[in-house]
Amino acid sequence: MAVKSLDEIDKEYIAQALKLAKNGLYTAAPNPCVGCIIVKDNEVLGSGFHIKAGTPHAEVWAIRNSGGRDLTDATAYVTLEPCSHFGLTPPCAKALVEAKVKRVVCAMVDPNPLVAGKGIKILEDAGIEVKVGVLENEAQELNKSFLYAMKHNLPYVTVKYGMSLDGKVAMKSGESKWITSTDSRKDVQRLRLLNQAILTSATTVLADNPSLNVRYDELPRDVMEACPRDLLRQPLKVVVDSKARVTDYNLNIFKTGSKVILVRLSEDNDVYTTDVNENISIMYIPSNAENANHIDMKLLLSELHKLKIRGVLVEAGGTFVGNLFKQNLVNEVITYIAPKVLGKDAMQAFAYSTEESLQDIKNMQLFSVETINNDVKLIYRLN
Ligand SMILES: NC(=O)c1ccc[n+]([C@@H]2O[C@H](COP(=O)([O-])OP(=O)(O)OC[C@H]3O[C@@H](n4cnc5c(N)ncnc54)[C@H](OP(=O)(O)O)[C@@H]3O)[C@@H](O)[C@H]2O)c1
Repeated sequence: MAVKSLDEIDKEYIAQALKLAKNGLYTAAPNPCVGCIIVKDNEVLGSGFHIKAGTPHAEVWAIRNSGGRDLTDATAYVTLEPCSHFGLTPPCAKALVEAKVKRVVCAMVDPNPLVAGKGIKILEDAGIEVKVGVLENEAQELNKSFLYAMKHNLPYVTVKYGMSLDGKVAMKSGESKWITSTDSRKDVQRLRLLNQAILTSATTVLADNPSLNVRYDELPRDVMEACPRDLLRQPLKVVVDSKARVTDYNLNIFKTGSKVILVRLSEDNDVYTTDVNENISIMYIPSNAENANHIDMKLLLSELHKLKIRGVLVEAGGTFVGNLFKQNLVNEVITYIAPKVLGKDAMQAFAYSTEESLQDIKNMQLFSVETINNDVKLIYRLN
């Protein structure tokens, strides 16, 4: 039997650590998902993952799960650079030094300015050999929203919509329940849980009276397994309402017990928030120079970043989505296409006018294609 090289062994253990990290996919935000495995003489002595902010990080769980066995000279495999700072928990790099591991293999450097290389430095200063960049692309994909937020100080924005084969999202009357199948709509429950905020428009809230919540019993089975009921966290709901039209607090969006922010146009240039009650706030955001009648969407997104929102899911009609798209504020588009034709008078998925020529039109990268019964789910990413 061929002997495995050290690179191959490192890849195998990082792949296992990535699998563990995925357990935090629906619960770890605003923190990244991280997994850790501690190995000595080809035996896994301890493993762990980060489940929720405020609880121990993956490295600490892995050390704890080793049950007090001697970790001297072991190798720790971590999917993200061990942290170097005191946040809600003490630094993991120090915990690995104290555990006397000999090598640390990490999939990638943590771009969080509080860490970014400092964790690696603590390890190297203590004489620990550090290898970085094993299965880096996979590790980046797992934490794409967190990484984007750290780099751009904005959340990663995903637009989701269900549409007909002819690209329509509602009838002329506004009726849109339901274009896609029950299973496609169940899949949307997963998206709501993957993102910490849902962004919508006053128009959609008034037209559809949606709840925009996560309904545990409708989650796909794999999501239920990764997210126990007691860890379910409802996304923040953010309703752009420049004209202050949403004033009826009996609408469904206010009935789910989770927080709603209504975003209104600020008369001066200030950004400020007032609380209506424990669950409803009004955030005032100014317009930008090009669009005096509507709030400045980029500014709103940067305010959401300050609230540690890493991923935003947009669920709105074509006008809202089209304007976000036009302003280059969309990172990913997820569409569920149903085998129906709604005709020329129905509402467009992206309702905005463009005077660009075809060669200037944005191109997207196809990320995945999936069939859900009779519907097709497409994920496209923008560069
Ligand atoms: N099939 C689906 O997946 C799906 C999902 C959601 C909604 N829908 C359907 O979509 C329909 C609503 O679509 P819609 O197009 O009428 O409304 P919409 O896209 O949901 O919202 C329009 C909002 O965009 C803002 N807006 C308008 N012009 C703008 C501009 N030039 N720049 C920036 N912001 C601008 C306005 O907000 P402010 O004035 O407050 O700034 C307005 O409330 C509903 O009938 C709903 O059923 C379908």
